[in-house]
Amino acid sequence: KQRVLSGVQPTGNLHLGNYLGAIRTWVDIQENYDNFFCVVDLHAITVPHDPKSLAQDTYTIAALYLACGIDLEYSTIFVQSHVTAHSELAWLLNCITPLNWLERMIQFKEKAVKQGENVSVGLLDYPILMAADILLYNADRVPVGEDQKQHLELTRDIAARFNDQFATRQKPVLKIPEPLIRSEGARVMSLTDGTRKMSKSDPSDLSRINLLDPPELIDKKIKRCKTDPVRGLEFDNKDRPECNNLLSLYGLLAGKTKQEVTLECQEMGWGQFKPLLSETTVEALKPIRLKYQEIMDNKDYLDKVLREGKEKAQTVANHTLSEVKKALGYLPSL
Ligand code: TYM
Repeated sequence: KQRVLSGVQPTGNLHLGNYLGAIRTWVDIQENYDNFFCVVDLHAITVPHDPKSLAQDTYTIAALYLACGIDLEYSTIFVQSHVTAHSELAWLLNCITPLNWLERMIQFKEKAVKQGENVSVGLLDYPILMAADILLYNADRVPVGEDQKQHLELTRDIAARFNDQFATRQKPVLKIPEPLIRSEGARVMSLTDGTRKMSKSDPSDLSRINLLDPPELIDKKIKRCKTDPVRGLEFDNKDRPECNNLLSLYGLLAGKTKQEVTLECQEMGWGQFKPLLSETTVEALKPIRLKYQEIMDNKDYLDKVLREGKEKAQTVANHTLSEVKKALGYLPSL
């Protein structure tokens, strides 16, 4: 089987963008691959974080992976900081990656503006750590949302550069991974501005639907979400980004095709569509919320999942790390 690796940062809650852009794909494809899903807690401190909630948030994300349908028969779930090879490979890759490759990263530039004087070296280095996550597992495919495309191109460039400099064409050390970005759900937009992506860092919680939001809150957010005064609903009208986003959300959550949604909704007004979207969202998230509660009530089980995940991940990661060190010419540990 081919290998899949992906991850989510433990920064509070997960929203519909994370679910529809990434985790839903993981669940859909997992049977066909050998999968590693990581809670990327080292990435979570590249912007200011609260030490009081990091551990709890890490549990939350791991439990959500399971609640969303990640199946341990096909997939391994682990915490990034538990496998020290991630930090170590990141350092080694730091030393072979030109600085200007990182300075070009759009996500760095966007986040750096918000941080001003306090931008950490870690924020700049974020994509290298991500490359290390992927390359350690010789991943063939990396299922992510559209916003991670540039980071995956960088990962490919780093792997190719490493192989060029330190390996032979016949026997490359690092596997060059392919992104897996589905056309639908790869870019879920904000509820308050259809031209911006739904994001954990948006100061307004009304801009996103979190997977664990209770039904009343989902209802309130959808009631208040931005719409337009045009009658009738349609996809792909550039002047109606909110309309396209909300119809897409409905289709994905209801499991209906674009054509089915168009037929069903084209004559509707917002007053009719919003309750439908709200009800569909609540129904789609309900099983996730129930399963999540069940898992969080059983921390021993969750600890066991993460302990076993760490063991499996470590074996694969340490092997790659030692190959990389050999290629770089290191004296083996005595
Ligand atoms: P994070 O936690 O910011 O995002 C997790 C995943 O959610 C996707 N995503 C979205 N998809 C569609 N619409 C949106 N509005 C939206 N917002 C977020 C992201 O594309 C991502 O797939 N850098 C990664 C974490 C990471 C990683 C890795 C991923 C670290 N190492 C190795 C893959 C492989 C990230 O963006 O996390």
